[in-house]
Amino acid sequence: MIRDPGVRRRYAVMGNPIGHSRSPVIHAAFAAQLHERIEYGALLVPPDGFRAAVARFRAEGGGGLNLTLPFKEQGFAWVREQGGELTSRAVAAAAVNTLRFDGDALLGDNTDGAGFVQDLQQRHGFPLSAARVLLLGAGGAARGVAPALLEQGVAALWIANRTQRRAQELVARFSDPRVRALGWDEMGEVEPTLVVHATSATIAGGVLALPAAAFGARPVCYDLSYARRSTAFLEQARRAGSRRCFDGLGMLVEQAAESFLVWRGLRPETEAVYRAQREQLDAA
Ligand code: ATR
Repeated sequence: MIRDPGVRRRYAVMGNPIGHSRSPVIHAAFAAQLHERIEYGALLVPPDGFRAAVARFRAEGGGGLNLTLPFKEQGFAWVREQGGELTSRAVAAAAVNTLRFDGDALLGDNTDGAGFVQDLQQRHGFPLSAARVLLLGAGGAARGVAPALLEQGVAALWIANRTQRRAQELVARFSDPRVRALGWDEMGEVEPTLVVHATSATIAGGVLALPAAAFGARPVCYDLSYARRSTAFLEQARRAGSRRCFDGLGMLVEQAAESFLVWRGLRPETEAVYRAQREQLDAA
């Protein structure tokens, strides 16, 4: 790790879209807190321009990248091709949200699952060990959190997806008796203590059509995404009687702290940064 105090190392998040990314503000706050000399920007990259953009950033001496939609899977494939190191959590998710460049050395990691666990267990005080979890969605976001849930010792993990085949494919990746695929219309057959929303249905303002049975046992509900006031999923959960509902803003801050640790060897304190982000979101 290069930590020459005289050198301001460059980092950035790459995505498309990227305009609303909170990562530059979050990382600037971490750097100020720990007196680390870094610069962190946001790069809008065309969907077919990933390789060129990473090569340029690296050639210019960049220290690391965060990858967000739609580049996490491409990032994973790229690290493999380059013969770089992949952490076990990146392999489990088959997706990379953190790249680290150290001279010729290349590391691909995924801090999403750790960020989710940290936020839910430590900040919100929900113990995952022995939890019975219904995970909605089987795309990249679901793949990021499912391995972390299993690692934390959940008793059951049901994965429900609009296209059931994709849920079955995700289940098959784990060969773990705790994991089962559920049809969208079978949600009423299980009694989860936690429901995690990991679809992209509402990101572009679409509608998530969930059966009311999904909330039958009044589970704790967690949305991996966030929005001003609340998300459509959490609104549905509240209407169905769930009292403890959390959005993904805390996860965003925690996965960023984990990335900072990967790059700089120091884990920032997150609570004040999280509170500032919450205030900004409420005031938006
Ligand atoms: P991400 O990386 O954000 O998870 P993705 O890999 O494209 O994106 O996966 C999107 C997820 O949201 C999938 O689980 C998708 O369900 P399908 O596999 O059936 O497509 C889910 N999704 C998207 N729009 C949805 C909708 N309107 N209702 C329910 N699920 C939806």
